[in-house]
Amino acid sequence: MAMENFKQFLFALAAAVSVGFVAIIFVLRWVLYFKEGLAWDGGAAEFNWHPVLTVSGFIFMQGIAIVVYRLPWTWKCSKFMMKLIHAGLNILAFIFAVISLVAVFDFHNSQSIPNMYSLHSWVGLAAVILYSLQLVLGVCIYLIPLTPTNLRAVFMPLHIYSGLFIFTSVIATALMGITEKLIFGLKDPKYKDSPPEATFVNVLGMLIVLFGAVILWIVTRPSWKRPSEQVLLSHPTNGRESDDTKVGITLSQPTDQVDTEGSREARRRSGKLEDSGQAD
Ligand code: HEM
Ligand code: HEM
Repeated sequence: MAMENFKQFLFALAAAVSVGFVAIIFVLRWVLYFKEGLAWDGGAAEFNWHPVLTVSGFIFMQGIAIVVYRLPWTWKCSKFMMKLIHAGLNILAFIFAVISLVAVFDFHNSQSIPNMYSLHSWVGLAAVILYSLQLVLGVCIYLIPLTPTNLRAVFMPLHIYSGLFIFTSVIATALMGITEKLIFGLKDPKYKDSPPEATFVNVLGMLIVLFGAVILWIVTRPSWKRPSEQVLLSHPTNGRESDDTKVGITLSQPTDQVDTEGSREARRRSGKLEDSGQAD
């Protein structure tokens, strides 16, 4: 099934993946070259796992998980398979985030530094808690086959909104953390004197913002949305079984273009679901 503006999509995806990779290389170079390296010893090198795991896991992996449905070469895969990949990547990102928190709490406790005093830590912990809630609700509503289709449709706008809200909050948290760490860590010369480490890490912050901007661009283009199962099924080149939901329309494809017997029946049964535009 062809995608509108495929070349623009490829360009945006390549930009997101390469900016994300460069950000991971930057955070590794920061901790390995400018800072104390990586270790699990209660010292500064243990803290360093915190930025490494948040940037590679909580930011990069979450970003990729968010756009995974939009990859047109996956549209021939079943929706169920794509849900497993979307959920799996998000679970992996969550595990990275939790280990990154263990690293910073353990570092604080062994150095007798107070916990949870900063705005960074408040927003960050709130984002991790909301993320875990999003994961549990996502699995219960979209993976468990018993959930009624209309509940799936009603919940979808909230799922998308809260997913994007959490992703944006995580990026804001990272920027606060980076700024704090530069202010704490740079003594002579100070942050305000722009030593090479400060400039390098400011660029890391800009890369993170750019990564977030491109991911949000990709995921908010209506014409790049994965077509609904009925649209895919009505397409002769995609002859395969749908996994669960056969209702819902895609924003890019009005239903009158796919008015097969099956889809008319699906719309009749789904009733109001069509209005939400998101049945699964
Ligand atoms: C501390 C969350 C990214 C730097 C903390 C704490 C939390 C947290 C909950 C409190 C730990 C405690 O009180 O013992 C997050 C989340 C991130 C993130 C969810 C996801 C993006 C970063 C990044 C840096 C960073 C990229 C850059 C170095 C710090 C610093 C502290 C800290 C310096 C200790 C000072 C403080 O508590 O604010 N973080 N963090 N964080 N984080 Fe992050
Ligand atoms: C779609 C975020 C977990 C199922 C989305 C979208 C976002 C998102 C932003 C919109 C994607 C698009 O429009 O292409 C998240 C986040 C999660 C999470 C941040 C983790 C905390 C889950 C889980 C499931 C799930 C565990 C269970 C399978 C879905 C489904 C869609 C979706 C079915 C609709 C895709 C489509 O029809 O195109 N999610 N999600 N999500 N998510 Fe999640």
